[in-house]
Amino acid sequence: MESKDDVMDYFKIDFKYYKQRASVPSYNDVLDFDDVDSVLRKASKVSLLESPSIKNMSDTKNWEAYHLNTVPGFYFIKNVLTREHQLYWARRSLCDFTRSPNVTNLDQFQAKESVDKMWENSESEFLTKSNFNIRESEIWAVRWATLGYHHNWNTRNYSKRHRSNVPDDLAAVSGNIANALGFEDYKAEASVVNFYHSNSSLCPHQDLSEVDLTYPLISISLGLDAIFLIGSDIKTEKPEALFIRSGDVVVMSGKSRTAYHALPRVMETTKMRLDDESDFLSCYLMNSRINLNVRQVESDKSVLPED
Ligand code: SIN
Repeated sequence: MESKDDVMDYFKIDFKYYKQRASVPSYNDVLDFDDVDSVLRKASKVSLLESPSIKNMSDTKNWEAYHLNTVPGFYFIKNVLTREHQLYWARRSLCDFTRSPNVTNLDQFQAKESVDKMWENSESEFLTKSNFNIRESEIWAVRWATLGYHHNWNTRNYSKRHRSNVPDDLAAVSGNIANALGFEDYKAEASVVNFYHSNSSLCPHQDLSEVDLTYPLISISLGLDAIFLIGSDIKTEKPEALFIRSGDVVVMSGKSRTAYHALPRVMETTKMRLDDESDFLSCYLMNSRINLNVRQVESDKSVLPED
């Protein structure tokens, strides 16, 4: 039975609405930045600072950025990654970011050497098995990986002692996005890579583990489309729903840095043109979504406590 608190929790109500599978929800209220005219009642186009060209992302002059006026500090950026860049980051996420020294959800159940071979094993099955089913492949079981400061999901903290490096290419790309929005000296210190399948969702939450919350959270999407909800720091406020697609970037800064957000629904479509591809990466991306989110954890003003 629903309690009074649930009735007032508009975030949860919308989360459940878009998550439901019994019937297809209406998408009339979902903002779609691929149809720019339809979002201009709530979002404004913003100019970006030009950043130097770097590998694995397109030049800032090709990007299209919007500020969601109903959620101060929340930015949506299109055209940051071409199709080739999207494939590059998907491969990095699956093949490299799941390996040592990074941490995954499977590490507590399996020897790290076997986790490190998941991608290779799954790809070789794909190439050799006539009745290959991706849902039964080893790589299907990976749900998250952490890089840099490894987020502890139980304590919701980071520890100075449990740390590796955020890979240079990911730090460069996220630093470039932060700079383009005017955040200077952004340091990528932690990243969570989420792997979703078409029936997955991510419950409403706030990201508050970082000790300095003045730096933006940068989030890159790959693979299947999804619906993203972004609200405020109280759950009784109705969130905005928006479509988020492969190659899109969202940035949570200012007030939105501490806002409740969630991913109620992964769709069954992707704007990546993969239909005619027969390689394993494309097969994975036709069935899954990857989210790479990057955070700065501390600063000169706020440092992580000693353990
Ligand atoms: C997150 O909030 O941690 C991930 C959101 C997403 O998958 O886009």
